[in-house]
Amino acid sequence: MDRKSFIKNCGLACLSLTSISTLLQGCAGSYIITLPMNEERIIVPLHHFEFTEDKKKMYRQHIIVKNEQLQFPICIYRFSEKEYTAIYMRCTHQGAELRAYGDTLVCYAHGSEFDNKGNVQNPPANKPLVTFPIIAGDKELSITLKKV
Ligand code: FES
Repeated sequence: MDRKSFIKNCGLACLSLTSISTLLQGCAGSYIITLPMNEERIIVPLHHFEFTEDKKKMYRQHIIVKNEQLQFPICIYRFSEKEYTAIYMRCTHQGAELRAYGDTLVCYAHGSEFDNKGNVQNPPANKPLVTFPIIAGDKELSITLKKV
């Protein structure tokens, strides 16, 4: 192997390791649950947002909900005790599945990014993501699904 090929191969190997590391970090950061659907509603117990750290009650910024009837998961962002968004994780560019990284939803197909309300932050997507109405109760969220 000549010097030029060696440098090129090392660069590709480093890029691959960086990508895998980023993917693993993204997966590790999301809490994922599968919940049933009843009459186009999914009920999400609020305890799924809670965790403890140093004996203090904390809240997850987002959780991901799956259901076998849905082609893509739903990412639910928590802004406060009563304020949430439920976002369908299907890219509006060409329909790839999104990944959640903190308060950003990223599409690896062509690089689109969306904020935690579903608004486009980076093209090529130019339409906001599908969101679902949420009713926040004391112990659970009720998400009303519509045709997606
Ligand atoms: S399908 Fe998501 S950016 Fe193209």
